[in-house]
Amino acid sequence: MILPHPSRRIWLFLDHEAIATTLVQHNDKLKKSFDYQLLTDILGDGLITTEGAVWEEDRSRLQPAFKPAANAAFLPIMQKRIDAYMDTLKVGEERDLYQDSLAITLGVIGERMFYRNVDEHMQRIVTALAHCLGSITVRGALPVDLPKRYPKIFARRFVRELATLRGIIAELMDERRGSTEPFDMNAMMQKDPAFSRERMVNHLLTMFSAGYETTASALGWMWMLVAERPALQELVRGADDSVLRAVCDESLRLYPSLPTFGREVTAPFQIDDIALVPGDSIGYCPYATHRLEAHFHDPDRFDHTRFLRVEGKPPPKKGSYLPFALGQRACIGASFALTEMQLVLGSMLKRFRLELVDPPERAALRVSYAPHPGVIVKLLPTA
Ligand code: HEM
Repeated sequence: MILPHPSRRIWLFLDHEAIATTLVQHNDKLKKSFDYQLLTDILGDGLITTEGAVWEEDRSRLQPAFKPAANAAFLPIMQKRIDAYMDTLKVGEERDLYQDSLAITLGVIGERMFYRNVDEHMQRIVTALAHCLGSITVRGALPVDLPKRYPKIFARRFVRELATLRGIIAELMDERRGSTEPFDMNAMMQKDPAFSRERMVNHLLTMFSAGYETTASALGWMWMLVAERPALQELVRGADDSVLRAVCDESLRLYPSLPTFGREVTAPFQIDDIALVPGDSIGYCPYATHRLEAHFHDPDRFDHTRFLRVEGKPPPKKGSYLPFALGQRACIGASFALTEMQLVLGSMLKRFRLELVDPPERAALRVSYAPHPGVIVKLLPTA
């Protein structure tokens, strides 16, 4: 499908084969879309914003911090935080579980980045980041980008907040310089001469920006789906991890935190009868792709069993399920996020039955698409 645009061709690929072929086989002929270039003003050359050799080298240098052993090592710390949150909850109260999820994922990502509790700095980081991202969103919506030296009056607060944001990260980085934790990303980078101080800040800030709200949004939608299904809660309570995982997968199918993302074509290539040329844009919409009957039977219905591994049952076709994108530039934090979602879900249902009081009215764009204004749930005793 081609979308109308005055000056370039924008292709929207919803079919799994076109998605898989472009993102996996032709990744070297694509770069990230224009909105990511705007993000460079905040994140510098972090993993999300770089391309080519710079990206490739940094991705392989940082990958060890996200391997299964790294996630396993962090598990007890994550569980401790989640238990501490659960201890604050009381039977009978109504909670906005989306807001609570923001607090949980904020604390978890902070501790994951620095391997120490950095909660006292997190609210300041969030405020500064929210302002910077807000400015970028306004710029992204303008018909032409502002020149780099646009009038200071618009930029003054942006510059101040960005300095605060990067300053706090740099301070925490210095404070944790001597850390001997094997999977401490900060310590790993400190030992590698390839990373300048500025680039370390870029990478840490990138992980924070990419990993905090996305996971909270995913949890928020999951609470809505789970809280309106008492039978599902019963089933999850007595089940093993594979069921928890399937609930998370199905929830991300219906409500992927990043419902769209884009690429720009940098070198010509062919997909069936479509000749893609430099300057073309490609849009991907996991939200729509996940809800095509061709990919998932009765697609609007919640059914976690789609993702239960059963012998003889084929997994979803490559390209039909992409909450974490696909190919070389797929999310580096996917398994970390899924671990966190499963732990939170399992811990919550062990202690409470959930009853949906107020569902969200709509999805609101923050960094990701979040349930707005929240997900109000009543906590009931388990039977
Ligand atoms: C449920 C939670 C999450 C979702 C749905 C999600 C989704 C995504 C998606 C769709 C992309 C690809 C975007 C694109 O190519 O345009 C991505 C990239 C990325 N994500 Fe995540 N993410 C989540 C959590 C995390 C976490 C926890 C971290 C880090 C701790 C993280 C770090 C990153 C990074 C660094 C990239 C860029 C990878 C690269 O280009 O090499 N994400 N994520």
